[in-house]
Order: sequence, then C-alpha cells, then structure tokens
Amino acid sequence: MGEINQQIILNSRPEGWVMPENFKRVSGKIPDIGAGEILVRNLFMSVDPYMRSRMNDAKSYVPPFQIGAVLEAGVVGEVIQSQNPKFKEGDVVVGMLGWENYSKSNGEGLLSVERGELPLSYYLGVLGMPGMTAYAGLVDIANAKAGEVVFVSAASGAVGSVVGQIAKIMGCEVVGCAGSDDKVDFLINDLGFDRAFNYKTCGSIAKTIAKLCPKGIDVNFENVGGEIMEAVLWNMRDFGRMAICGMIADYNKAEMSPGPRGMGIIIQRRLKLQGFIVFDNPARNMEYIQKAKIWLQEGKLKYHETVADGLENAPTAFIGMLKGENFGKQIVKIA
Ligand SMILES: NC(=O)c1ccc[n+]([C@@H]2O[C@H](COP(=O)([O-])OP(=O)(O)OC[C@H]3O[C@@H](n4cnc5c(N)ncnc54)[C@H](OP(=O)(O)O)[C@@H]3O)[C@@H](O)[C@H]2O)c1
Repeated sequence: MGEINQQIILNSRPEGWVMPENFKRVSGKIPDIGAGEILVRNLFMSVDPYMRSRMNDAKSYVPPFQIGAVLEAGVVGEVIQSQNPKFKEGDVVVGMLGWENYSKSNGEGLLSVERGELPLSYYLGVLGMPGMTAYAGLVDIANAKAGEVVFVSAASGAVGSVVGQIAKIMGCEVVGCAGSDDKVDFLINDLGFDRAFNYKTCGSIAKTIAKLCPKGIDVNFENVGGEIMEAVLWNMRDFGRMAICGMIADYNKAEMSPGPRGMGIIIQRRLKLQGFIVFDNPARNMEYIQKAKIWLQEGKLKYHETVADGLENAPTAFIGMLKGENFGKQIVKIA
C-alpha cells in the first residue's frame, strides 16, 4: 500500500491535568491480516471524557490504557481488506479501534452501519454511545415522565444536548447549564431548552437553579459532579431521581474532592441516586437508535459537532473537550 500507519500511544500517565506530552505520535507499518481478520481504514474517531480515567492506572469498568500502547477510541472506518466472512471490503463499521490510520481487528464488537443520508460521524455521537447514554439515563435510570422538571449539566455537550432534547420530546420541562453564553443561547434557541444558564458567570449556582426551577427538580441528569451536583441536590423535589452519568469536574484532579454537602436532603426528600454505564442495557440502546433516526429525520433531534482535522490533532481535541472548548460532540476526522 506504500502508506504508513500513524498511531498515537500513551507516553506517560497524567498527574492532574492531561498534557500534550502524555501522548506520543509514532509511525508503523500497515498491519497484515490473517484468517478471520479485517483491515479497517479509520475515518472518524471520538474523544470522550471516560478516556481521561483510562489514562490512570486504576481499576474501573474498562481496563486502563497501557504506557507505550496505542490508545483506543470509538471509531468509524471502512473495511479495506477482509478475511472474515462477516465483513466485506467497502463495509462501514463502528466500534472500539485504535487512535491510528489503519486498525486490524478480528471483528469482535464491531457493528456494520449503512452509508445513508446521515454523516458517518453521527455513529460516534447522536447515533452512538453518547446518544444511547442520554436515552438510557432518562428512561431506565431516572424514569422521567411528561410534565416533570429535568435538569442536565454539561448540557450543550454530546450527552447533555441529547438528554435535553429527548426530555422535551417526552413532554418534560428542561433546564440546563453550560460554560459559555454562546452555549446557553444554543440550548435555548436551537435545542428548545426551556431555560439555561452559564454556570461560570451566574454567581451562586444553587440560587440560580432555585430561580429557574421554582417548583424544584424531579430528574437530574448528572454529567459533572462537584459544585453543580451539590447545587442541584439542594433543589431536588420530594421523590426526585438523579441519574449519575459522569463526574467530569473531577477527572483531571490529582486528589479526589469531598462529596456534596447536605447529603441529608437525600433522606428528607426521599431521593433516588443511581449510577449507570451506557452498555448496561443493550436492548434499550437498540431501541434508542431506531427512535433517534426518526427524530433526526423529523427534525426533532438536532445535532452539532466540533470536528478536529487529522489524527495528529486528536490529543489537542481531547484536552480541549475536557476544558469545554467543544461545541456539541467532539470528533476527530482521520481520513
Ligand atoms: N455513564 C456512562 O456510560 C457515560 C457515557 C458517556 C458519557 N458519560 C459522562 O457524561 C459526561 C458528558 O460526556 P460527553 O461525552 O457528553 O462530553 P461533552 O459534554 O461533550 O464534553 C465535556 C463537557 O464537560 C463540560 N465540563 C468540563 N469540565 C467541567 C466542569 N469542571 N464543570 C462543568 N462542566 C464541565 C464542558 O462543557 P462546558 O463548556 O459546559 O463547561 C465540556 O465541553 C461526562 O462526565 C462523561 O464521563 C458517561
């Protein structure tokens, strides 16, 4: 093929904030495939907050990245060689592959997707893991119902933007917060949130939520943790539910933060808090994909991406996403 395979490996583990030097770009040979394997030309890859936790040497629901090994990501790519009867050349697949131009795979965990009217990168966002997370959290974990007040943090991001829109489709009242005025405008004017605020400039987050949610919050979709989660907790209604999805405020901290103050509210208001992981209920995820395709076609679900161009820009895109520089889902275009 005459081309080289650019790859990005974990160079060192971050202590606190992830830095560009924690990554290293190397180049190798395009891998040869054997019986049962396929070669994928990677087109788009996703950078996601959970990757920061995988950079630590700590036990979690996914194993840590290894120093010197190619990093993994959700990838959409095209099969260019196949010795696996389940895939043929030209198929488009989505699944966990490497931060690299070409990946070899035995096909396990890869799904074929159709080339259609929707951009292929959507399978890493609104039609992929973040969208499924939004739906599973609202339906399975929080049991959101029409008429209820739903609050979502990191509301303009990949998961949060879908949470808010699905909650509106379900007939809920939706309030969210994000880290810039542009993002807040986007939530209200483009995504149809009822109310939203900039948590960086609002002053007291708890008082702002109390003003914007005078009846209190029935369902909290927690993406952030820390100060925002504490402020939401204090504004929950009796029998409210909190779907604990992510704690991004803590991911780059060298030391763990103390928990929210005022946890006695959980008892007083008879709250339910439940953490969840997107792949807990695969049937729910498939149900979501069917619905999301229709909602996208009908214009009920809007979707925004920030696309970094080139594999070499993946580390910067990843760090930028953790700092809130992304608008909607952060994607990296590889080819
Ligand atoms: N449980 C699961 O299975 C699952 C699956 C997917 C994602 N998640 C979690 O869901 C959350 C959102 O993920 P995503 O993929 O949709 O990312 P995202 O929202 O597209 O991007 C991350 C956003 O988090 C916000 N943020 C970063 N640091 C913050 C802080 N200290 N306080 C408040 N906001 C902060 C930034 O937006 P602002 O500009 O608004 O600050 C940033 O753009 C993450 O916590 C992630 O770990 C969980």
